Amino acid sequence: MPFEVRPMSPDDRAEVASLIQVSLNFWYRLHGRPPIFSGDPMAADVFFEVYHALEPGCGIVAQDTASGLLAGSCFFHPRPHHVGLGIMNVHPNYFGTGAGSALLRYIIGLAEQEAKPVRLTSSALNLDSFSLYTRHGFVPRQVFQDMVLVVPAGGLSDAQTGAARVRDATLHDVAAMAQLEVAVSGISRELDYRFAIENPLGCFHASVYEAESRSIDGFVLSCTHRSFQMVGPCVARSEREAEALILGELDRFFRGRPALFLLPADQAALVARMYDRGARNVELHLCQVRGSFKPFAGVSTPAFLPETG
Ligand SMILES: CC(C)(COP(=O)(O)OP(=O)(O)OC[C@H]1O[C@@H](n2cnc3c(N)ncnc32)[C@H](O)[C@@H]1OP(=O)(O)O)[C@@H](O)C(=O)NCCC(=O)NCCS
Repeated sequence: MPFEVRPMSPDDRAEVASLIQVSLNFWYRLHGRPPIFSGDPMAADVFFEVYHALEPGCGIVAQDTASGLLAGSCFFHPRPHHVGLGIMNVHPNYFGTGAGSALLRYIIGLAEQEAKPVRLTSSALNLDSFSLYTRHGFVPRQVFQDMVLVVPAGGLSDAQTGAARVRDATLHDVAAMAQLEVAVSGISRELDYRFAIENPLGCFHASVYEAESRSIDGFVLSCTHRSFQMVGPCVARSEREAEALILGELDRFFRGRPALFLLPADQAALVARMYDRGARNVELHLCQVRGSFKPFAGVSTPAFLPETG
């Protein structure tokens, strides 16, 4: 079908929110799973809201040139070492018509101009997105378990190894956070850390793990927006720091409610400790990279907002 791929404008905002919600809810319902968004038809506006505040102009849409309807939308995040691909959606009326590929080609083209890899996090349960990405040269590099833990109302104050070394991140930590992420994952995202620390929307938070030597050995971001709650991304030298950071965030912001976080499936001891606390698997995701990839040298957990790969 003929589509025009063009930058997303503020005038597209409501239609994009509706498109994301309809697309995801339709796909999950079709595959016998509960919808991602319920109730408020503007719930998925959280993506435009956050990305517009983080870096305006990083959204694109595929517009049906015949009807003018938006067939698909996607966000992208240029960073020093890579381009991140954010939430990708096609309206169910346009599934299988090439809208997803058109959006993807546009973002791959931008990344190729800068000679950067493209990274994303895609559902391992979703053959449609898996096929879209792998047909366009992406390679699955890491499996993540999406886990949900219902945090007790009284908190997780017991047995948090290393909790004393976790503190709020400040803007002075940004350079060290970037250095750590380059060492662990080969990428960095200063813009995202700053955004969580400065917290202009009032729903993000960032913590760091400061070792005795004063080095920053881990950090975690979290989001408690009314439409989207999650702990991550988390980057840490080892499971020890990652566990302290994730539990710290759960304990502070998620008491008495369920919290979502992703863990690398090969960090088996960390996964087992979360099972011991009652965490349940709800989905699997893949880190997919098109272009150069450095194997993780530590723990790196993704998030869906800001999206990381
Ligand atoms: C995933 C999604 C974005 C795909 O968009 P789409 O417009 O339907 O995809 P396209 O029509 O462009 O086709 C995708 C490609 O995968 C290929 N493909 C699809 N199913 C395939 C399969 N089972 N095996 C191999 N290739 C397959 C298609 O041939 C096409 O390749 P091509 O561009 O080389 O022809 C869309 O299904 C969607 O929005 N789903 C719900 C939300 C979602 O899953 N979002 C992604 C994660 S956030």
